[in-house]
Amino acid sequence: EGDVFKYYADGEWKKSSSGKSVAIINPTTRKTQYKVQACTQEEVNKVMEIAKSAQKLWAKTPLWKRAELLHKAAAILKEHKAPIAECLVKEIAKPAKDAVTEVVRSGDLVSYCAEEGVRILGEGKFLVSDSFPGNERTKYCLTSKIPLGVVLAIPPFNYPVNLAVSKIAPALIAGNSLVLKPPTQGAVAALHMVHCFHLAGFPKGLISCVTGKGSEIGDFLTMHPGVNCISFTGGDTGIAISKKAGMIPLQMELGGKDACIVLEDADLDLVAANIIKGGFSYSGQRCTAVKVVLVMESVADTLVEKVKAKVAKLTVGPPENDCDITPVVSESSANFIEGLVMDAKQKGATFCQEYKREGNLIWPLLLDNVQPDMRIAWEEPFGPVLPVIRISSVEEGIHHCNASNFGLQGCVFTKDISKAILISDAMETGTVQINSAPARGPDHFPFQGLKDSGIGSQGITNSINMMTKREEKETLHR
Ligand code: G3H
Repeated sequence: EGDVFKYYADGEWKKSSSGKSVAIINPTTRKTQYKVQACTQEEVNKVMEIAKSAQKLWAKTPLWKRAELLHKAAAILKEHKAPIAECLVKEIAKPAKDAVTEVVRSGDLVSYCAEEGVRILGEGKFLVSDSFPGNERTKYCLTSKIPLGVVLAIPPFNYPVNLAVSKIAPALIAGNSLVLKPPTQGAVAALHMVHCFHLAGFPKGLISCVTGKGSEIGDFLTMHPGVNCISFTGGDTGIAISKKAGMIPLQMELGGKDACIVLEDADLDLVAANIIKGGFSYSGQRCTAVKVVLVMESVADTLVEKVKAKVAKLTVGPPENDCDITPVVSESSANFIEGLVMDAKQKGATFCQEYKREGNLIWPLLLDNVQPDMRIAWEEPFGPVLPVIRISSVEEGIHHCNASNFGLQGCVFTKDISKAILISDAMETGTVQINSAPARGPDHFPFQGLKDSGIGSQGITNSINMMTKREEKETLHR
């Protein structure tokens, strides 16, 4: 009570000199659950300075030793899964079981990263000159991958642990130092995760975690000259960051409006199950959630009935009870979702359930007969509200999908695999899942968004490569 969680810098837990804190509101109780330090710009400067010098030594630390520490951190993280999951329940209202899964998945990701890193970073390249016109075999070039320097990691509220380690582990194995700015909702879970890295015994200053107000340290961090790479996951802020950031590599995963295209020959039970999983897991607060169903008119009635029956079975309530649908992260988010629902209502969408809301808790809602003039046809609710648009041709579905600003993932359901591949090729998204809901992972798969959904590609291997540069280390002449 009244305690303010300390931030992490130079291998120590510290109080901010600001004397101020930021409150974390429990989405379920809507009361202050925790408080974290409101770090100042001077403290950010200090962290950057330390990160820079710690990185120099870390880059010289043998790869196998870096991997050993990461394996240790992964094991400690898994040992701490219960208290970390508890924070996730209280800070972001993640259902209890999913909260544990997030931590375990994070431990696995860190271990995999260590293993992948020693392989891919342990190899270099050898080139000879006579493959280029006009050259004899007189020059040899040796290349290897070297770290970028200081990586700034900014994960989102929906995976404050997992989407933090998916940036931290590749950065560290590649020899970078890491500055973490966790989301406010989820900051305590992130601090606890950082504590696991602390216990593993990483060198002082290599990892730091600064908390605080975006208005005070947000731009200051992302525009800081000491930052050599930014890995960000979140919403529109990412677009602003990409415009302001300097000439440094950026890895961004932003929003999505993942379409689920359903053809006439699809297995509708399979589709319904995947719409439930894809659309309503963690109350739709996933960038990869199914956010619009585009179904062929002839099978639409049957599909909507099947989904409706499954929606009726979803449990709604507090995350502690492991309910399927839990309160959305904040009141402003709930208000935004409600705005989309009311707009659809006014413009004549069919409500398959009654709209119901208590505080931040919104009951799952399927909206049928959604039309392109409704905001929900295009905007991302990030909540348990799913629009269905009836289409009369596959082309119409593809057209709707590609008219979106987003291009993260999508899915197509049909028994005709060649058709599925053709449709998937036509969809302008980073990934298309065939006969399954969109999702990131397994975490070594590439993961990327096109258009406003992102820059670069994630997934363990891609992240390690992105956080290094290939250097022409020596050119030998003879
Ligand atoms: O919210 C964005 C995440 O990258 C989605 O991850 O598909 O594992 O839920 P997920």
